[in-house]
Amino acid sequence: MEILVGNKKINIAVFISGRGTNLKSIVNYSKRKKGNFLIKLVISNNKYAKGLVFSKKEKIYTRVIKYDNKIKAEKKILDLLRLKKINLICLAGFMKILSKNFIKKSNIKIINIHPSLLPKYKGLNTHFRVLKNKEKFSGCTVHYVNEKLDSGKIIVQKKVKLKKNENINSLEKKILKVENKIYPISIANEIKSIF
Ligand code: GRF
Repeated sequence: MEILVGNKKINIAVFISGRGTNLKSIVNYSKRKKGNFLIKLVISNNKYAKGLVFSKKEKIYTRVIKYDNKIKAEKKILDLLRLKKINLICLAGFMKILSKNFIKKSNIKIINIHPSLLPKYKGLNTHFRVLKNKEKFSGCTVHYVNEKLDSGKIIVQKKVKLKKNENINSLEKKILKVENKIYPISIANEIKSIF
């Protein structure tokens, strides 16, 4: 991994598959005066991802990567990471699992945000399962990515309380609001400690 000195900003790549609210909050945060990172690359495996409209509007270098062949797709992504001199990858609703080989070869730290209090409710449909189990609390977790799904070192976690008549939509909305707030802040803080 590259060691950076001085006031140089960290180049980050954001990987998305859909809506892109976290991408938007990361981009907006990076524009702050004291922001310590720049979004140099947006990758999506889905050409219809809503977040792409935003990244293009922001004139961020954006690439859609077809995933019908995972090995080829990851090879293309590795090339783009090198081309754009990326120092950190942030997953924001990216629905593909990165291979062990990709994680090793990229030699870049990868961060993700997950809508549950990990290690509880790894994987998909978290809000449904949380409600089904009548949990009193849920939340979101910013964590490092390793080769096991939603299992890397936890960076930050925020709890939210469930109300009595909570449903999937209201819970998703409540947690997403917290995600959008904490994700860029945790990225900025992590950058301070790792570079
Ligand atoms: C978020 O809930 C995030 O935690 C999960 O995927 C969702 C992405 O939302 N990994 P958005 O595309 O950033 O709006």
